Amino acid sequence: MTEKAKNIVILISGAGSNMAALIKAAQEEKWEDLLGARVVAVISNKPGAEGLALAQALGVPTQVLDHKDFESRATFDAALQALIDTHQPALVVLAGFMRILTPDFVTHYAGRMVNIHPSLLPAFTGLNTHQRAIDAGCSEAGATVHLVTTELDHGQILAQAAVPVLLGDSAETLAARVLVQEHLMYPQAIKDFLQKLIPA
Ligand code: GRF
Repeated sequence: MTEKAKNIVILISGAGSNMAALIKAAQEEKWEDLLGARVVAVISNKPGAEGLALAQALGVPTQVLDHKDFESRATFDAALQALIDTHQPALVVLAGFMRILTPDFVTHYAGRMVNIHPSLLPAFTGLNTHQRAIDAGCSEAGATVHLVTTELDHGQILAQAAVPVLLGDSAETLAARVLVQEHLMYPQAIKDFLQKLIPA
């Protein structure tokens, strides 16, 4: 019995360091042989996203769909969905994809779209998470991998990593400490998730 390939599509808007960590893990750990899984495309909504060159350097094809070319969130999301679906993804990975997604889009990928959020959810949904953790006097901060649902940053939690908040931390120093953990956690959480997907 041949298993259907588990295609992974990654969406980015910026630096793409989580994307790169994921592609490297998939390549180095031979996910294709192990899980039948491979990263087939990286899609950015920003033409200038740094991560695009990074993906290309790692041998993954990139595509740009500029949200500014669309009249509305709904028309952009519909076009994005059509583009993603040309890759027949088993999993859509949001990796610093800075867009609010429409319910139709989220529902279409229910159970097969994941995100990494830079806080210990359910604390600090939304933006500026590191500064808010510092301002609140938290002794720990971190990041969460979760399934994407229609309520922002509220889907089922798949993995979490915590780091200490240190005296004198700025949002930048804390973000850098969290990001190191993100790069370890996100590929592992995705690998675990793919292992649980029932073979087609
Ligand atoms: C990460 O902090 C991630 O948690 C958040 O956006 C940032 C993306 O960074 N969702 P990068 O583009 O992966 O470097």
